[in-house]
Amino acid sequence: AETGVNALALELIPRTSRAQSMDVLSSQAGVAGYRAVLEAAANYGRFFPMMMTSAGSVKACKFCILGVGVAGLQAIATARKLGAIVEAYDVRPEVRDQIISLGAKPIDLDIGESGSGTGGYAKELSEEAKRKQQEQLAQKLKSFDIILTTANIPGRKSPTLIVEDVVKGMRAGSVIVDMAAANGGNCPLTEADKVVTKHGVKLVGITNFPALCPTDASHFFAQNMVNLLDVLWNKERTELALADDIVAAAQLVKKGKVISLALNFDHTGPQGAK
Ligand code: NAI
Repeated sequence: AETGVNALALELIPRTSRAQSMDVLSSQAGVAGYRAVLEAAANYGRFFPMMMTSAGSVKACKFCILGVGVAGLQAIATARKLGAIVEAYDVRPEVRDQIISLGAKPIDLDIGESGSGTGGYAKELSEEAKRKQQEQLAQKLKSFDIILTTANIPGRKSPTLIVEDVVKGMRAGSVIVDMAAANGGNCPLTEADKVVTKHGVKLVGITNFPALCPTDASHFFAQNMVNLLDVLWNKERTELALADDIVAAAQLVKKGKVISLALNFDHTGPQGAK
């Protein structure tokens, strides 16, 4: 702002159908959801599918996904392709049908309110709803072999979904992949950028999954930028095309003044973020 520039923030591009081809949050979250399941599989060290062999049989892996936005949907698809039995939960009720359409079983909780906020994002729950959510999840989560979490609320610390008692109750060798680790984590035991074992459970706190799939992540990012450049300028290519809803929403600094049309973000970043 001090230099007087106009600046766009890619994370403010709206989550609309027309903006999808330039939406870096979606392209990178898709890569991350896929890669995070592979990380879960490597750390689990056991089969995902049920196997019946002459040397004995193994049970299918029970895989739970908490937070079913773009990364969570890709994680469901990937875990299913690898042969796991997948259940999933999101605080936005409209996600239930998407979970079913990918062949996973939705986890239904009664927390007394909807978590749907504006722009397709989740909103922060009341203290009472948070308590109910943690309690009801605690009943269900201990039976899973792998839990992958992606729950985020823009501009806020990530919600706690897996309390320490749940980790204590999980079988030794189970895995938690906490994709919200950069924003404080969905489990308080997660350590950002580390893989740690606590109460016999491996907690994966990797914060940059797209970087572990760099060629495709960069390819998608570059294509997002090409698509954005198509709508960025007016006809004469002299001014930003601010009549375009995508460009207007993404503009973060206007002639030196910080503005934000799309979301009421705190631009110092989410609390707890590095
Ligand atoms: P995100 O990264 O902000 O959050 C991930 C998920 O965590 C969300 O589904 C959210 O509902 C969930 N979550 C938050 N708090 C939770 C809690 N306490 N318990 C359980 N789950 C919780 O989300 P992302 O992936 O960036 O997607 C945001 C929205 O944008 C979604 O509705 C998505 O469908 C939408 N979208 C729409 C597009 C379009 O073209 N129409 C394109 C891309 C995204």
